[in-house]
Amino acid sequence: MSLTVLKLGGSVITDKDRADTLDGETLGHVADALGEANADDLVLVHGGGSFGHHHANEHGVSTTTGSHDIDAVTDIHGAMKTLNEFVLSRLHDRGIAAVPVHPFSTAVRDANASLTLPTGHIETMVAEGFVPVLHGDVIAHEKEGVTVVSGDELVVSVASHLDADRVGFCSTVPGVLDENAEIVPEITAYEQVADVLGESESTDVTGGMAGKVRSLLELGAPASIFGPDDVSAFLGGETPGTRIDG
Ligand code: IPE
Repeated sequence: MSLTVLKLGGSVITDKDRADTLDGETLGHVADALGEANADDLVLVHGGGSFGHHHANEHGVSTTTGSHDIDAVTDIHGAMKTLNEFVLSRLHDRGIAAVPVHPFSTAVRDANASLTLPTGHIETMVAEGFVPVLHGDVIAHEKEGVTVVSGDELVVSVASHLDADRVGFCSTVPGVLDENAEIVPEITAYEQVADVLGESESTDVTGGMAGKVRSLLELGAPASIFGPDDVSAFLGGETPGTRIDG
């Protein structure tokens, strides 16, 4: 049994210039690739794109700044559930047994902002032949009300709890790019890319490339960052884009 965790970036599957709008064409292509790949053990996570970020910005909610406003919760969570339903229906069309997992119902941050995401149900879903589809969301956060949990954080959490063998990020860029805009094929230490991604010590959990690379270097499984055209290659066992293995 070999488990793959794949994140579909929000800006891949939505039109980032228009609120609450899908990029139906790209989502369709990615769903085709998933349908043809027939990957056995798979967990999917999708980002927020123009569904999540738009509403989160409107309510001033981020991964660190919370809100107790019920409208903030229902707007952000509601938009993400709508996007999740679109993703599920595209996957069902391709014969994939995709099932929804809403982080708001189970995940939590403590007062130190540390994330706890229970994964027992996700593990059983996979064992029973389903493909769980998680998404960036708002979650309860001690002393803050709710804050945003990003898809990247969910990927790292699920992949480490379930001991994933491979992790993939389908992004709008074809990988981590160097100063000549060429794809860096492999990153084994942050210093290799510090010049292009910046030296920042902080882990940017909202989707920035620097934070993504840092957290993936710490993950015990190899991860790849690639563009939408490379989903098939990744699911077929290749390592398109940039491979990150600390
Ligand atoms: C954001 O998730 C979720 C919300 C804003 C509610 P991500 O940070 O993973 O989304 P993308 O992939 O960058 O769009």
